[in-house]
Amino acid sequence: MPKKFHLKDPVAPILWKGNRLLVLDQRLLPRRIQYVNCRTAEDVARAIRDMALRGAPLIGVSAAYGMALAARRGPAALVKAGRLLRHARPTAVNLMHAVDEMLQVSGAKNPAQAVRRAAEAFHRQDLAANQQLAIRGASLLKKGSRIMTHCNAGYLATSGIGTAVGVIRYAHQQGKVAHVYPCETRPYLQGSRLTLWELMQSGVPATLITDNMAAHVMKTGGIDAVIVGADRIAANGDVCNKIGTYGLAILARYHKIPFYVVAPTTTVDLATPDGSRIPIEERSSREVLEIFGHPIAPKGAQAHHFAFDVTPHKLVSAIVTERGIKRARQSLMTLMGKK
Ligand code: MRU
Repeated sequence: MPKKFHLKDPVAPILWKGNRLLVLDQRLLPRRIQYVNCRTAEDVARAIRDMALRGAPLIGVSAAYGMALAARRGPAALVKAGRLLRHARPTAVNLMHAVDEMLQVSGAKNPAQAVRRAAEAFHRQDLAANQQLAIRGASLLKKGSRIMTHCNAGYLATSGIGTAVGVIRYAHQQGKVAHVYPCETRPYLQGSRLTLWELMQSGVPATLITDNMAAHVMKTGGIDAVIVGADRIAANGDVCNKIGTYGLAILARYHKIPFYVVAPTTTVDLATPDGSRIPIEERSSREVLEIFGHPIAPKGAQAHHFAFDVTPHKLVSAIVTERGIKRARQSLMTLMGKK
C-alpha cells in the first residue's frame, strides 16, 4: 500500500495568507471562480454560514484560521470568535473540534503565534488524513466498480482530495472505477455543481442523476457501492450527512449494495452517544422555494429545509477513517482508541 500519492486539483478551496483567508466562493461554481477575502473571524463565520465554503472538514480548517485571525486581536477577541464560529453552522462537528483545539493553545506565551501554528497544523492533518482515507477506502472496491455518491465530499469540501470523492478518484487511478453516479443533491445542488465538476476535471466517467432516480439506477444500473462523506458520526456509529443520505442507505440495503462512509476522525463525536442527539441544521425555506433567486413554487408557499439526516449505524457497511476501517459489527470507540 503506498504511503502517499499525488493527484492535482485545479483550484484551491481556501488559501491562507497569514493575515487573511481567501475563500473560493462555492455558490458561484461551476460558472465562476472568485475568492472572498476574509480578514476577520466574523468574515470567516459569514462565509461558513452563507455557504461560500462548505463541507465538514473544510468548515473545520477554515474555522481554525478564523480563530488565528481573531488571536491577532487579543484574548477577548478570540473567545468572542469561538462563540461566533461555533454557531455559524450547527451540524458539522469538525467546526467545534477546530474551535476547541485553538482555544486549548491560546494560553501560550504568544497566543497569536500559538493559534496560527495550531491552525496550520490542523490544516496539514486534514490533508494527510485525506490521503489515508483514499488509500484505505479504495481497498474496499473491486475492479470495474460502479459507484453512487451524494452531495460533495471532494477536494472542495476538504483541504486534500476529499473523502468519498477522494476514494473514488484514487480508485479510478488504480483502474477500479468504471462509472460514477453523483446525485444532484437538492436544494443546494452540490452533486451537480461541485461533485460532477470535480469528477469531470479528473477524467472520471460520471453521469448525473436527480435524487429521485437513485432507486431506479440501483435496480437497473448494477451499482457496486454507495460512498458518501459525513458531517458528524455519533459514538454508536450513526452517521449524519447531507439530506437524502438516509434514503440512499435504505435503498442500498434493499438492493444489497454496500454503503460506505468515508470521514476523518475530526468528524467523529464521541460525546454524542447516538444520532438522535445530533443537531440537524434547518436552513431558510427560500433555498428550497427558489433556484438561483427564481421562484419555483407558488407565492407564499411553505417549505422545509432540513440540511442533513441521520443514517442508523445498522445500515452502514463500513466507516473508513484515516486510522482504519470500522466494519458494521466493530466499535468506533475501539478505532478511536477509547476502549
Ligand atoms: O451543506 P454542506 O454542503 O456543507 O454539506 C456537506 C456534506 O454533507 C458532505 O457530505 C460532508 O460535509 C462531508 S464533506 C467531506
